Amino acid sequence: MSFNIAIFGASGAVGNGLCKHYQSNNLYKFSRNPKSSDEIPFDLSDEESISEAISTIPDDISLDIVVICTGILYTDAIQPEKAVKQLKSDNFHSIMTMNALGPALIAKHIEHKLQKDTRSVLAVISGRVGSISDNFLGGWHSYRASKAALHMLWRNISIEYKRSHPNLIAVCLHPGTVDSHLSAPFKRFVKPEKLFTPEQATSYLYKVIGELTIEDNGHIIAYDGTRIQP
Ligand SMILES: NC(=O)c1ccc[n+]([C@@H]2O[C@H](COP(=O)([O-])OP(=O)(O)OC[C@H]3O[C@@H](n4cnc5c(N)ncnc54)[C@H](OP(=O)(O)O)[C@@H]3O)[C@@H](O)[C@H]2O)c1
Repeated sequence: MSFNIAIFGASGAVGNGLCKHYQSNNLYKFSRNPKSSDEIPFDLSDEESISEAISTIPDDISLDIVVICTGILYTDAIQPEKAVKQLKSDNFHSIMTMNALGPALIAKHIEHKLQKDTRSVLAVISGRVGSISDNFLGGWHSYRASKAALHMLWRNISIEYKRSHPNLIAVCLHPGTVDSHLSAPFKRFVKPEKLFTPEQATSYLYKVIGELTIEDNGHIIAYDGTRIQP
């Protein structure tokens, strides 16, 4: 059976890995810097570009699965904070915009394209570090706060969209620690057996997405299918 699927952040380790799993479906790939003609450009920091990108999906297509795989932890100019005294307003706003607001704007503009009649999934890749109850290490203030905000936004979306889309499962997914551009500067702190290749992480996520049920709506789910407390 072929599904209509949209992946945002198709160039990233998680996004690209999921695209490979879904390639036999009717797949819409969205990237900041498209590298092939089948990728649709968008920029998370530009709402109009999000709306324009989504408008390229044909009118008669309803999406069964949407996975937002974008996110940033650092840039050339931004490093994750180790202490509150390192907080900088501009950096905080940038991380919040990319990790919390951006995915919510995708949810805003893609709502009318989500399948209503049968099971559909609106998933965003988040991270365990966004769990307040699981935070025993501290640090990474902006990144942690942005993922916690993302969890709240997705919980809200899961409640709101249920009214118009009773079969929709809106979830945040934790991919584990994945060997990617995002984790590269920090992977030396991770035990080898805890560092997943993108292929490994996305095969776990692919399985989790396939097994989601309506009871999972509004929850945060890890790569092994277990729930993470907010
Ligand atoms: N890697 C880990 O260990 C880990 C652990 C927990 C959670 N996560 C989460 O998993 C998700 C995917 O991370 P990853 O490991 O796959 O990292 P990645 O390889 O660095 O991918 C990040 C993706 O986000 C895209 N992106 C960044 N800024 C964008 C913008 N302004 N507009 C559009 N796209 C933008 C990137 O596009 P470009 O290619 O154009 O830069 C890339 O496709 C993130 O949300 C991350 O927080 C990762």
